[in-house]
Amino acid sequence: SWTMLNIVEDAVEAVRAQIGPEGRAICALSGGVDSAVAAAIVQRAIGDRLTCVFVDHGLMRKGEAEQVEQDFVAATGVKLRVVEAADRFIKALEGVTDPEEKRKIIGREFIRVFEDEQRAIMADGPVDFLVQGTLYPDVVESGGGTGTANIKSHHNVGGLPDDLAFALVEPLRTLFKDEVRRAGEELGLPAAMVWRQPFPGPGLGIRIVGEVTRERLDLLREADAIAREELSRAGLDREIWQCPVVLLADVRSVGVQGDGRTYGHPVVLRPVSSEDAMTADWSRVPYDVLARISTRITNEVREVNRVVLDVTSKPPGTIEWE
Ligand code: XMP
Repeated sequence: SWTMLNIVEDAVEAVRAQIGPEGRAICALSGGVDSAVAAAIVQRAIGDRLTCVFVDHGLMRKGEAEQVEQDFVAATGVKLRVVEAADRFIKALEGVTDPEEKRKIIGREFIRVFEDEQRAIMADGPVDFLVQGTLYPDVVESGGGTGTANIKSHHNVGGLPDDLAFALVEPLRTLFKDEVRRAGEELGLPAAMVWRQPFPGPGLGIRIVGEVTRERLDLLREADAIAREELSRAGLDREIWQCPVVLLADVRSVGVQGDGRTYGHPVVLRPVSSEDAMTADWSRVPYDVLARISTRITNEVREVNRVVLDVTSKPPGTIEWE
């Protein structure tokens, strides 16, 4: 619509004025809609003086890294540095089962990788601006101050160290989520990004109950992809707030498949409806959709022989299992 067009154009103008004719900026992409729209706006404003960094920690869902590296770049022309860091993250997570410990490690590694990239980018000249996809509700929640690095580290792998000497560029500061999505459409971003449901920064790392390994990540990625595919085929994408798929990696149960006995892992489906993730109810997904997901996961994902449904509201359960 023309109003959305104006909002995008005004944001582009404001960024251009803030950064000036020479300034350079960096932006960490997470695969989510907020950082993508923020980056796209800044790219329109200053072109190649923006460098985006995508740290592929190996904890993304199926197809998400490609979405950033290929589709997003094709749609925006953004200058992107990709860091393939899966080995590093998986190594750092070796032997770790405690959820908060996992978050800490993933956050710490992210910062280290990002700082290395930042140094490399600064070798070509100074960078004074850091782009953040802060939304209006984040501004309100954190007390409304502007200024330097005011980042919700608890809920963001993009949680960057707050001693970085950057001025923040926050083109989404006045927008709500639905406006950000419309801006994303206006900017021609891939639909899968624009409409992506909330996904935690630590990614699949906190959806494996137990140690995170490459094999387990692969299993979970397959199961998750099937659940997402069937839910969206059933037209439930917009109705469901998010649907974590959780691998109970330390649990095994007996099953039977063909002539053989199996001893595999369960996955949990956790579809919830919510307004803001503070409270949530379990989604009443139609039985036939659940049946299709269950049949497909147990048929197609070796090692998974049981699919269970989480029917707990929040509170007392959180949305994620970790
Ligand atoms: P919980 O599990 O606390 O989740 O009910 C509420 C919302 O926050 C997301 N979540 C996270 N997001 N880093 C994030 O960026 C995290 O460590 C994290 N933990 C939970 C969760 O997916 C839900 O949308």
